Amino acid sequence: MQSRWWQQAVVYQIYPRSFMDSDGDGIGDLPGILARLDYLQWLGVDVLWLCPIFRSPNDDNGYDISDYCAIMAEFGTMDDFDRLLADAHRRGMRVILDLVINHTSDEHPWFIESRSSRENPKRDWYFWRDGGDRGSPPNNWESIFRGPAWTYDAATGQWYLHLFTRRQPDLNWDNAALRAAVSDMMRWWLDKGVDGFRIDAITHLKKAPGLPDMPNPQGLAQVPAYPFHMNVDGILDYIDELCTTTLAGRDVMTVGEANGIGPGGAEEWVGATRGRLSMVLQFEHWHLWSNAPRAPLDVRTLKRILGRWQTALRGRGWNALYLENHDLPRVVSRWGEPQRWRVQSATALATMYFLMEGTPFIYQGQELGLPNAEFASLDEFQDTYAHNRIAEMRAKGLTDDAILDEMRHTGRDTSRTPMPWDDGPHAGFTAGRPWLPAHQDFRDLNVVRQQGDRHSVLNYYRALIELRKREPVLLHGRYRTLAGRSTKLYAYTRGDGDDAIAVICNLSGEPATYRHAGFTLDRTRLLLANHDVPPHGPLTALTLRAWEARVYRIGTTSPA
Ligand code: NOJ
Repeated sequence: MQSRWWQQAVVYQIYPRSFMDSDGDGIGDLPGILARLDYLQWLGVDVLWLCPIFRSPNDDNGYDISDYCAIMAEFGTMDDFDRLLADAHRRGMRVILDLVINHTSDEHPWFIESRSSRENPKRDWYFWRDGGDRGSPPNNWESIFRGPAWTYDAATGQWYLHLFTRRQPDLNWDNAALRAAVSDMMRWWLDKGVDGFRIDAITHLKKAPGLPDMPNPQGLAQVPAYPFHMNVDGILDYIDELCTTTLAGRDVMTVGEANGIGPGGAEEWVGATRGRLSMVLQFEHWHLWSNAPRAPLDVRTLKRILGRWQTALRGRGWNALYLENHDLPRVVSRWGEPQRWRVQSATALATMYFLMEGTPFIYQGQELGLPNAEFASLDEFQDTYAHNRIAEMRAKGLTDDAILDEMRHTGRDTSRTPMPWDDGPHAGFTAGRPWLPAHQDFRDLNVVRQQGDRHSVLNYYRALIELRKREPVLLHGRYRTLAGRSTKLYAYTRGDGDDAIAVICNLSGEPATYRHAGFTLDRTRLLLANHDVPPHGPLTALTLRAWEARVYRIGTTSPA
């Protein structure tokens, strides 16, 4: 089967602010990334996804862009970017940019013009509306980052819409001139040689016509309004236009951040015959955690969710595979056991998702098996969304201790601390004072140390990447869930003709027995394991230790 370069790739997500600081200002930058390309090449990743690097006042760490064609001052210059792109390309790596086009910064010239008068030609590039009687906002929508989704602007006596912070006004995609301007800007970057985009909040681009109030039976001050601003009918027309005007004829990778898309609807977004996006980052397994953040991993539901995505896109589209990103706490802390079984749970979870059909994504530090960064007090949280949540919980009367406990489990800063490179000051990230403190475990869990440890999480990720690239069946082999009813095991096969591989992971801290029919497992065909496995002949049952993962070639007798 013919495959595209982005189907064969492993993506590494860089949060530039925390990756590597080259000039001692405590903030990571582009020359810092350049200096670490050797590491990324050693690891074996092919695509670098850079979280936003554009000029920004940093209300939301770059997800509030004030100039799409300039580099954020703290990150360096356009020359730095050109050098980074050229060096990555020279090494055979690709670079995709995180593009925020649902909204801009309130400091973007488009918004400054738009807010300047009701008659300004760019007025309609954003959503401006009159308020209700008695000074209320135009509708009852809640911002995704809490509070009302509208802010009043005294200059013209109207309100503007923002699904995120008030400093991130939403662009009005119904306006053709705005769409043309976005498209020009994207072409400018593509002409420069970038290899694609991760498109932020893509499912929010269209709002329900008329911006209707949400039903509000509980009489809330504001109501979460997802049905009216997420995956609204007609949104795919925008995507089609973008494809025609901007992406057509270019061999690029496009990844949509796609809250609200299920496996049933995904084909419309990423179907091979539709020619829209390469893949979407879906949210269903994210919600499995966020709907019950303190609950242990529900393995059966996870299998159901990921299995449905595997099946739905089989032969029709392509999956993005991920466990972590900069909006989520670390997976070892969410679903693993960081105290008792850090290495084992990090590597078992890694094995589980990495060998499915799709393109695997690694978020910086995930490959070290980092648990959540710990915060001693609420003052240490930097994230704008954290600030809103803290204020909201205080308003509800929660104590600071209770809030701190909540934020330690769910805050986004828990995965945004500087990358631990070595055991020197500030983990080798900066010669200055880092914008967030170094991870509490950096002396043990840094890159240098893990490179030298055969049993480290880092070396395991490297082996996983190598395995994925070595075995063609892992690219296109059919996925089939095994042991679907087990509450501990996540097991599946990937099969293609005579060739098949079984991936068997115990996602629990207790032993778990896997019994299989139709094929045997033989030590001589073991491809990878996160525990030492003594020699064994053909087996039809296997008892895995706590958080044990094994990958076997099962050969011709497979049911896959
Ligand atoms: C999703 C991004 O991943 C997140 O970090 C950001 O805060 C929001 N979109 C708003 O742009």
